[in-house]
Amino acid sequence: MSLYGTNDEERTDLTKEESRFVRARSRRLLGSLLNPLKARLVLAVFLGIVSTAIRVAGPALIALGIDWALPRAVLGQYDYLWVVVIAYLSAAVATSLLTYYFLMLSARLAQTMLFDLRNRMFVHTQKLSVEFHERYTAGRVIARQTSDLESIAELLAGGLNELVIGGLFMILTAAALLLLDPISFLVLLGALIPLAILTRWFQIKTNRGYRKQRVASARLIQYFVETMTGIRAVKAFRKEKQNEKHFGGLVEDYRKHNAHLIQLFGIYDPGLIMIGNLTVAAVLLVGGFRVLDGSLGIGVLTAAILYAKRFFDPMEEIAIFYNSYQSASSALEKISGVLEEEPSVPEAENPTSVSQAQGNVRFDGVEFKYQSGPVVLKKFDLEIPAGQTIALVGTTGAGKSTLAKLISRFYDPSSGSVSLDGIDLRDISNTDLRREVVMVTQEAYLFSGTVAENIQLGRPGASMEDVVAAAKAVGAHEFISALPEGYDTDVNKRGGRVSAGQRQLISFARSFLANPAVLILDEATSSLDIPSERMVQRGLKTLLAGRTAVIIAHRLSTVAIADRVLVMEHGEIIEDGSPLRLAEGDGKFARLYRAWRDSLV
Ligand SMILES: Nc1ncnc2c1ncn2[C@@H]1O[C@H](COP(=O)(O)OP(=O)(O)OP(=O)(O)O)[C@@H](O)[C@H]1O
Ligand SMILES: [Mg+2]
Repeated sequence: MSLYGTNDEERTDLTKEESRFVRARSRRLLGSLLNPLKARLVLAVFLGIVSTAIRVAGPALIALGIDWALPRAVLGQYDYLWVVVIAYLSAAVATSLLTYYFLMLSARLAQTMLFDLRNRMFVHTQKLSVEFHERYTAGRVIARQTSDLESIAELLAGGLNELVIGGLFMILTAAALLLLDPISFLVLLGALIPLAILTRWFQIKTNRGYRKQRVASARLIQYFVETMTGIRAVKAFRKEKQNEKHFGGLVEDYRKHNAHLIQLFGIYDPGLIMIGNLTVAAVLLVGGFRVLDGSLGIGVLTAAILYAKRFFDPMEEIAIFYNSYQSASSALEKISGVLEEEPSVPEAENPTSVSQAQGNVRFDGVEFKYQSGPVVLKKFDLEIPAGQTIALVGTTGAGKSTLAKLISRFYDPSSGSVSLDGIDLRDISNTDLRREVVMVTQEAYLFSGTVAENIQLGRPGASMEDVVAAAKAVGAHEFISALPEGYDTDVNKRGGRVSAGQRQLISFARSFLANPAVLILDEATSSLDIPSERMVQRGLKTLLAGRTAVIIAHRLSTVAIADRVLVMEHGEIIEDGSPLRLAEGDGKFARLYRAWRDSLV
């Protein structure tokens, strides 16, 4: 379904069917969050109803006091008055206590739900395939985890109570009025018509406004994250001015939507106050005449006025929290979209276990395209015998990285199969596959922590000797020892900052420690200078020994250590052979080889 997909949360023009689908999706999520809390939820609802009912009893007790106990007190019988006063006080105390328990319980429930949701978001987005992350972008994932979760938190932190208790209070107040004095109730009923019209108008307007405001805020965050992540490119291309303008536009957009919402409140709130006051006046007028002709007690009229006035009290709160409710529910809609995303490379139900892979990689009739895009890799067969080192060369956009992503199963082929030692990658468990096939990308990402910890990621639990041995093998030991705290240097602290080449060496050490059967290096040597590349060449040989390797190479020196070269062009392997044989021929590689050689002199 398209709505699981890419940009639907940015859209404000969903069709009826689509919005029904989105709502159902977020209801499912809500249900799954509430389900484990059912028992406590029932208790909370019960506490809420009882405490509100007792609160609503107040004016009725006052009526009782005025019409029933007071006349008797005038005659010297004070007991009745005492009974009413004590009942009133007890009701007040009971309301406070019950409200206290209700608030505690509902806050705990809310926190539990939020905790659950936060965790689920993290675990799920982390589990989703590379395909999802390349499509959904980090900025949007961050917006889900921050502003969307915040708005749900905001609602749960108090708004929901106000909403539920406020609604309950209005219903019970109306019911009490109906029991006490049906005529005043009819007057209140009359007031419901303008109230309903005003509220409905407000609802529709703010609904639309909130959607727009959230889209604007998500765009703001996304742009901010994108700019900060790409800050080097921003600086290098002097893009600041242009960014400033674009960001200014986004901020302005956000401001406009906010201003519009505030304006809506500016109309709604005074409207409410007006309707409330008119209702009180009408109840007083209609009731006053009945008191004059003796058909209504003063106490009942007093209570009726109190009810009519109190009836509207929660309305403003409800209107305010209706906003939180709206933004939270649209946040929930988006979060549910992410949570219902399926990994595009799902793990097999009954995976074949692979303990010690040889490293034989085969492509059988593989064709590949990204989602519904054009064919990126044309149908091909390829066999990489265990232990062979392959250099993959070719023009940019030829499909080299794509081929590499298929071997590490970041993606599944659109047709055909990729196998390791004769087992389809789709049948190998994720754990086994991650152990046997390791891909080192150009970015050579380092996590916060020490250098040693970053190397250790290759094989969790590896001893310090193993870590050092791995670093020595790939030629990283020297510069690591020179860092302020050696292997214990924090890579994110001042002084611990490492260069791009050093980062690559660390990630080589990490892969060496992981000791996979198949190693893929995507342009991993590209940011090394010549001396450190020499060093890495030596390390690389150690790293590659005894395993299958696919190196996406942009340098002759890297190609030279390969057993076999594959030249790619427009999604096809156009040349395949040993570097020497290809260099001697007159194909594309021969030309490339000559160009490289000439540039080296
Ligand atoms: N995530 C993606 N979604 C859609 N299309 C993609 C994606 N990644 C790459 N492509 C497209 O697939 C084609 C091959 O890209 P690929 O990254 O494999 O090229 P490459 O040979 O590695 O190039 P380079 O040498 O520049 O790294 C390109 O046309 C590219 O636009
Ligand atoms: Mg590439």
